Amino acid sequence: MKHHSIIELIERKRDGGTLLPDELKWIIAEYTADRLPDYQMASLLMAIFINGFSTEELAPWTEAMLGSGEVLELGHIPAPKVDKHSTGGVGDKISIPLAPMVAACGIAVPMMSGRGLGHTGGTLDKLESIPGFRTRLDRDEFVAVVERYGFVMGGQSETMAPADRRIYALRDSTGTVPSLPLIASSIMSKKLAEGIDGLVLDVKTGSGAFMKDEPSARALAETMVGIGSAHGTRVIATLTGMDQPLGREVGNANEMAESLDVLAGGGPADVVELTYSLGADMLILGGIESDRSTARARLEAAVSSGAAMEKFQEVIVAQDGDPNVAEDRSLLPVAPHRFELTAPDSGFVRRCDARDIGVAGVRLGAGRERKEDNVDHGVSISVEAKVGDRVERGDVLAIVAYSDEDRLVGARPLLERAWEIGDEIAKPELIIGHIG
Ligand code: URA
Repeated sequence: MKHHSIIELIERKRDGGTLLPDELKWIIAEYTADRLPDYQMASLLMAIFINGFSTEELAPWTEAMLGSGEVLELGHIPAPKVDKHSTGGVGDKISIPLAPMVAACGIAVPMMSGRGLGHTGGTLDKLESIPGFRTRLDRDEFVAVVERYGFVMGGQSETMAPADRRIYALRDSTGTVPSLPLIASSIMSKKLAEGIDGLVLDVKTGSGAFMKDEPSARALAETMVGIGSAHGTRVIATLTGMDQPLGREVGNANEMAESLDVLAGGGPADVVELTYSLGADMLILGGIESDRSTARARLEAAVSSGAAMEKFQEVIVAQDGDPNVAEDRSLLPVAPHRFELTAPDSGFVRRCDARDIGVAGVRLGAGRERKEDNVDHGVSISVEAKVGDRVERGDVLAIVAYSDEDRLVGARPLLERAWEIGDEIAKPELIIGHIG
């Protein structure tokens, strides 16, 4: 590969110029091989953050990140392979009921998930609230589980899209996370490395999302759909609201319990609606259904027959977890102390801020303030009143289960400001639109 001057490339991007495919590939290759120091990559990332990427830059950058490691070979699995990814939110446990439900309908789901990031929760942390559940699987085991049971939920392997893992960590500590081209290339490089036929994206917008306003979330969704089609992988994106948490539970074990409720045929209406909507798109992308309403009926049948829950239990066993959590939620950890946040006035909930509640969860120990922190799986925030609900003064807005009094002191001001009570307001739409 031809050598380039990294300083010249950084300066060009800083001044609003364009980088060529060969230059972009060289940067990723050099960085992955440890020949480019973090400070130069960080400087370039900030230049990209400020000046963006053209389509001609984004495609080779993403392909280079994808090519920085191994791509899963799943061609021997006859079922269509479809995955789902969310851009990250608060209370977003959708992947957990979704994967077994879709797998029970005949789609193979090789799902690589992440840990909590900033104020957003992570599927791996939620899964690990099941006693014994192991999310560290090597490549062969990951493939074996999806081949045998139809889905698998593990962490990103060391060998897949390593450029993303390193760039992501650098962005997290250099203020360059909420950048459209950097998010799009990060998500798409690791998802396309799964060797899938189709991908369903849940692109969030609102206070608890990385993309705060709808036009930028829509642009992100369109960009990712474009990257998918340039690669030959069909992508359907759904734009969803993340101004308030999804469902009632924010935490880990409590989100697992809520996910199990959905698999058992219950659960809060918003979680159920989004799970079926994304699931229907997965069945359509996999080619086993052609319209959303029959696809939804098929998913509902997988739940009511118990097939989806059984599938989840099979994979729990395969990944060394205790499958009895399906019937006995007391096997999930619960933090020992309780605090109730009550409404200061009577009226309607006008705001139930996802970001504040997410940050409060992190402060309580449900997420990490530093990379090396351990998650307290039993910590939970149960949201009792959401936007549009009528409350009377003294009604409970949230119930917090916590382990450490000092942590509650840190979280409480955020919880107190997260709710705003006032005049009547309509309940917000969860699903804003579909792209792709
Ligand atoms: N999720 C990712 O995987 N990458 C990003 O950059 C943001 C959210």
